[in-house]
Amino acid sequence: MKYGYFDDEKKEYVITRPDTPAPWVNYLGSPEYGAIVSNNAGGYSFAKSGANGRILRYVFNQFDEPGRYIYIRDNESRDFWSASWQPVGKDLSEYKSECHHGTAYTKMMADYSGIHSEVRYYVPLGKSYEVWSLAITNDTDKVRSVNVTGYAEFTNNSNYEQDQVNLQYSQFITKSVFHDNRVRQMIHANLDQIENGKEVDNKIVVNRFFGLAGAEVQSWCGDKEEFLGRYHGYGNPQGVINGKLNNQGNYNENGCGALTTALSIAPGETKEIAFLVGMKDDAEAGEIVASYTDTASVCKEELEELISYWHKQLSHFQVKTPSPEFDTMINTWNAYNCFMTFIWSRAASFTYCGLRNGYGYRDTVQDIQGVIHLAPEMAVEKIRFMLSAQVDNGGGLPLVKFTHNPGHEDTPDDASYVQETGHPAYRADDALWLFPTVYKYVSETGNVDFIDEVIPFANKDEGTVYEHLKRAIDFSMNHLGKHGMPAGLYADWNDCLRLGKDGESTFVALQFYYAMTILKEFAAYKKDESYIGYLDECQKNLGNLIQDLCWNEDRFIRGFTENGEVIGKRDDPEANMWLNPQSWAVISGLADEKQGDLALQQVYDRLNTEYGAILMDPPYHAHAFDGALAVIYNAGTKENAGIFSQSQGWIILAEALRGHGERAFEYFMENAPAAQNDRAEIRRLEPYCYGQFTEGKASPNFGRSHVHWLTGTASTVMVGCVEGILGMRPDFYGLHIAPSVPKAWDEFEIDKDFRGCHLHITVKNPNHAESGCKKLLVNGQEMEGNYIPEEILTAETVVELYLS
Ligand code: GLC
Repeated sequence: MKYGYFDDEKKEYVITRPDTPAPWVNYLGSPEYGAIVSNNAGGYSFAKSGANGRILRYVFNQFDEPGRYIYIRDNESRDFWSASWQPVGKDLSEYKSECHHGTAYTKMMADYSGIHSEVRYYVPLGKSYEVWSLAITNDTDKVRSVNVTGYAEFTNNSNYEQDQVNLQYSQFITKSVFHDNRVRQMIHANLDQIENGKEVDNKIVVNRFFGLAGAEVQSWCGDKEEFLGRYHGYGNPQGVINGKLNNQGNYNENGCGALTTALSIAPGETKEIAFLVGMKDDAEAGEIVASYTDTASVCKEELEELISYWHKQLSHFQVKTPSPEFDTMINTWNAYNCFMTFIWSRAASFTYCGLRNGYGYRDTVQDIQGVIHLAPEMAVEKIRFMLSAQVDNGGGLPLVKFTHNPGHEDTPDDASYVQETGHPAYRADDALWLFPTVYKYVSETGNVDFIDEVIPFANKDEGTVYEHLKRAIDFSMNHLGKHGMPAGLYADWNDCLRLGKDGESTFVALQFYYAMTILKEFAAYKKDESYIGYLDECQKNLGNLIQDLCWNEDRFIRGFTENGEVIGKRDDPEANMWLNPQSWAVISGLADEKQGDLALQQVYDRLNTEYGAILMDPPYHAHAFDGALAVIYNAGTKENAGIFSQSQGWIILAEALRGHGERAFEYFMENAPAAQNDRAEIRRLEPYCYGQFTEGKASPNFGRSHVHWLTGTASTVMVGCVEGILGMRPDFYGLHIAPSVPKAWDEFEIDKDFRGCHLHITVKNPNHAESGCKKLLVNGQEMEGNYIPEEILTAETVVELYLS
């Protein structure tokens, strides 16, 4: 079943049926001000943090309520509806609507009883408030008198938890008043006489506003219960039914902003107004509302500016292939998904809003990878930040606090850190993610000077980027397990796998192996011969250990517990086949070709499904070892044999690195949201963004996906597609092009900005190969192999590659 389509030109997903199987949402704003909005206008807003800066309320698990509601009432018939289908929910035979989710804006069109409305929700570029701009048109031939009411439900406390569960406190600190076309909601208003913003019990006055521009407010309300009316709901607010709000604010209980304007619209006429929401002091709120006096043109300009900003960001890498699903994901939606995850890490969605007060180390370092090919200058800022969260012993801080202060942080070795963050110890993999991320950045940009940039460590001292990476190697070398592979510590990538402090994870061992390959390139650049010798030696030993201990006939095992139990053996009754050690054996370069292919074949035969490869199989149920936390989940779910979508990116990459274009693309298509647009009733999640996982074949809901938007999947699949399928593999001095594509692809094109030049690449495949380069021409000149050295790039470089 389908609920909409991709408009690739406008970079929008257009929802034509509003009764989607789940709220289908979009992200608006920036790290300063975030807003999530669903196709039925449900969602919340926050300043900086979804958990601690919550402005608009949203109740999880409540059928997508409340939201940014705009009610329209015909004052003659007294009939009313909403500019989004819900909350009023008119009969869909009479109410027509479209929701266009675009890059950082969402537009909703509705037609009902001869009135056309179009509301555009957005956060203006560089601003920290939101706009709901509304154009309302009379499509009939008589004058229509309508009331338009905007409704914003403020939280009673910026901390969402206090707002939801501590009402004996939070309901008694809120108060709202009205002046100059806006509702002003105050939290702790009673502290306004305390001198100069001094805090009392860590509290100060907080101001929010809900204003109207472009029309006069006819009536207003600042009290949720007064607006809705007891025993009414968002679908039939008493204030809207009455045709006039009560002109009263709240004092205690629940604040809100509700503003009604009365419009008389001539036949064919369009009126434009805008509601504005933010967390600003009163004077600034006044200035903001006043700046929208020329409503229609200000909003139009802002929206255009926003669209061109985002389309420019995306323009740095565009493809044209025979697969519309691949194109829409790479050109727009996977890329936008990567940016959103990059901006908000995993901290704000409809399933999670950031109980943790910081950034997860591995998550953040991985997420950076998804935007490097589009916005390396943005990426490097975050890389610096994450390097500054590396402890001087080389390990990463499992949680990097929002208040991170490089050089002055406590660490998992300090009780204070453990108490504050809830993270008891270092994780085995955190700092190892730095290697591919830093490498990708330096290779994308050619900015080799970055290697020598000095960056502080989290707790004390500082060092060059090169030194930081060396310390990460030291960290693993100083924490070896019983067999001499990196120790399991608290956990590896898999949050649900506790091998024990001295256990050993094959995945981490493979990451470590790969890290050494990468660092050798940096060392070669630094002409650090003795260090290369050291790494060669360590890598050889580690490689031998992995081969001896972890290869189990046709697959790599998952690891050893600290008691010496082997996890993931082929004759185990449960969890005898794991995805990540197989893909990473190839990615890391550890597996030889034959071994790699055998392991990949096992994945294909044993783990692959029509929705992607499951994380491991069979699920844990009766034979879970003590550290197999996955058993807490239902079979076929999350880490317990779910299709953990993040891992899909790695299997795409592994197959592509082996030149298996057919397989790589098959793995892409199975889990690509866009490829499931017509199976929305099964997938449920938005068909334009990744989720954390899809239920595996052990679940009765096989194919249903969960935990939308902010997931590591966005970046791993992006890397799997860009580096893997499309084969864009830069190194310090140029670019390798090594596509692995379906045989059926005759030809495809890539437009890529690279080191100040534009590359227009055409890949031709007359012999229907999956991979392999027969000939590479750069501006007509034939290259040796598939490599383009940086020196020969021109402002407009024309590249032609013939697959063998
Ligand atoms: C979640 C976590 C991530 C972890 C993954 C696998 O996505 O955010 O840190 O690696 O699950 O357990």
